[in-house]
Amino acid sequence: MKIVVADISHIRFAKDICETIEASATQRGTGIARRTEEYIITKLENNNAVVAFKGEKFAGFCYIERWDHGKHVAHSGLIVHPDFRNQGLAKKIKKKIFDYSLEKFPDAKIFGITTGLAVMKINSDLGYKPVPFSELTDDANFWAGCETCTNYEILKLKEHKMCLCTGMLHDPKKEIITEEVHEHPFNKKVWTRLKNIKQALFLKKSLKQKKGEK
Ligand SMILES: CC(C)(COP(=O)(O)OP(=O)(O)OC[C@H]1O[C@@H](n2cnc3c(N)ncnc32)[C@H](O)[C@@H]1OP(=O)(O)O)[C@@H](O)C(=O)NCCC(=O)NCCS
Repeated sequence: MKIVVADISHIRFAKDICETIEASATQRGTGIARRTEEYIITKLENNNAVVAFKGEKFAGFCYIERWDHGKHVAHSGLIVHPDFRNQGLAKKIKKKIFDYSLEKFPDAKIFGITTGLAVMKINSDLGYKPVPFSELTDDANFWAGCETCTNYEILKLKEHKMCLCTGMLHDPKKEIITEEVHEHPFNKKVWTRLKNIKQALFLKKSLKQKKGEK
């Protein structure tokens, strides 16, 4: 398996990347925000992505976006092809893109938003902390990327302050990742509880709204 910083030679995987993202989003019934093949190609061309492949078979992908004139970078669009899941590949891709971002954008805070437990676990192992959306970029173009997510109405309703996704942030100036962090990843039960609380709150709110309450 090769896990490398993308370049123009990987444009051959662009169609597979898009199709795999699309298929997963449909299956999960929620966002990953959709991306066009052209957009993925610019990420590959500009060395702003990591791609994994085995022989000629696409295995996984994640890309970098810069926001607020480089004050923040986001890692988005993480996808592992179903044939390669549960083998630690997402973890390796995220580690690769994390190290690469620190090298390429040393002053930027790194963030992501996710509903997925796998990504929460991986991020917390890398030293990310859960934060409210106010700590993330306020660049409207980032949030415009959520428009293709099935939860977008909730984001709008909450005036972009919160949604079903959890924001996670790594500030290289504040964080020193120690071996200890890797040895004691954030407790799975805590994450599950956090996610359940968020979902319950949103359900309660939408039920109230249906009943016309405030
Ligand atoms: C989520 C996804 C990227 C995980 O890829 P993967 O290569 O199977 O993940 P890994 O094998 O590296 O697993 C990393 C950790 O997450 C856990 N994990 C993996 N899939 C999981 C799932 N569906 N639910 C809960 N935990 C999961 C693993 O057990 C592992 O935990 P550990 O560190 O305690 O061992 C992959 O399932 C995928 O592409 N899904 C569809 C797209 C998606 O959801 N992208 C994320 C958008 S934010």
